[in-house]
Amino acid sequence: METAAILFFYLCITLSFVKSASGRNIEWWASDKSISQNADRNPCVEDYSPCNCNDNPSYGLEITCEGVDVLVVRDIFSRTTTNDLFSFQLTVPSPTGGNVISIPADLLNGKRAGNILLNCPFPDWQLAIDADAFRPSSGLTFFFFTAGCDLTLLDFASFLDGFLSLATIFISQSSNVQGIQNLPALPSLDQLIVTYTTGLEKVTDFSGLGNVQLRRLLLNGNQLSDQMADNILNSVASSSSAAGALEMLWLASNQLTRVPTQLTSFSRMIQLDLSNNSFPVLSSGSFSFNAPVDYLYLESNTINSIEPGAFQGDFTRGRIYLRFNSLSRFEEAVFRRLLEQMISATNNDGGLVNLESNPLECGDCHLAWLIRDSPSLLNAVESAVCSDGTAFSALNPSIFADCP
Ligand SMILES: *[C@@H]1O[C@H](CO)[C@@H](O)[C@H](O)[C@H]1NC(C)=O
Repeated sequence: METAAILFFYLCITLSFVKSASGRNIEWWASDKSISQNADRNPCVEDYSPCNCNDNPSYGLEITCEGVDVLVVRDIFSRTTTNDLFSFQLTVPSPTGGNVISIPADLLNGKRAGNILLNCPFPDWQLAIDADAFRPSSGLTFFFFTAGCDLTLLDFASFLDGFLSLATIFISQSSNVQGIQNLPALPSLDQLIVTYTTGLEKVTDFSGLGNVQLRRLLLNGNQLSDQMADNILNSVASSSSAAGALEMLWLASNQLTRVPTQLTSFSRMIQLDLSNNSFPVLSSGSFSFNAPVDYLYLESNTINSIEPGAFQGDFTRGRIYLRFNSLSRFEEAVFRRLLEQMISATNNDGGLVNLESNPLECGDCHLAWLIRDSPSLLNAVESAVCSDGTAFSALNPSIFADCP
């Protein structure tokens, strides 16, 4: 039951990734933000039972097979005629013996799918995929997702070989993902997502990451140590084309005890999530961005001290989330420049510093620069509350009258 709930949760997430994974999807997403899954439920002309079929008016057929035997899947696609599906999703059936479930060659009987999603309901089921399982789809598939399986037997290099359109690989809640180190050449790959998954620690060589130009590398929840994160990021940083492509890096909920030093190599990076690690001190130069920052998530990191110069770059529209840390001070030397940039933005799209749930000490003089001397900067400070419960915005400037 719990596994099913988790899978459902991830499938919902997946759905939103699917829907923003290609240009046309983004268009559709943008045109109807209130989309519900029911809004585009349409029966299909052909019968795909025992799989479910939805004819999405914008994208085409979405086929979902729950525990359907792979030979039955083959049968379905031999009797149906639609050649190109928008998505094919299989929750794998029980293994016949042992715990290996094998996806055979040409599962879709010559048909093609833009999105391919494979899920295991039990984490000890090992997924094996024949080199030619999805061969006919190689020119069409742009999104590959798998969740819940043990991936020990997965040979990424063979079954994804020649997938020229593949833009996203998304692996979630899986184990033994180490085979990912042998990715084939994937010229369209721009998003690699591995979350809440084990096995990255068994990867000995990440140099393949230098051969792809990822815009997004999302690695939340993988128990990565500093050394493991270094291995991964060094591989990206060692190739100038790979380093110059990366715009979004997520390393939240890992076991980092310091800010990765490679960040400055990523000249286009604008979205960085390091929340829920543990680095109490942000030293000078920790964050030095070369492109205008979009967001920097640093929440839940036990941060108690930030040195001047920790944040460098254009934060005009940058949102810095420092909530759920242990900051007792909000220092002028760290934040004045940033706040000045943020309030200079036009159209109300300026950046902000969020300080929710920090034990901020307001009883001494260290906030005079802000509350007494530059209260307009408070417009860029969000959820700042003193340890006695008083909001920054409610502090009376006169209490700082005698401060230097
Ligand atoms: C923080 O990370 C740990 C693993 O390092 C995880 O178990 C926990 O759920 C995460 N917390 C949040 C709020 O994401």
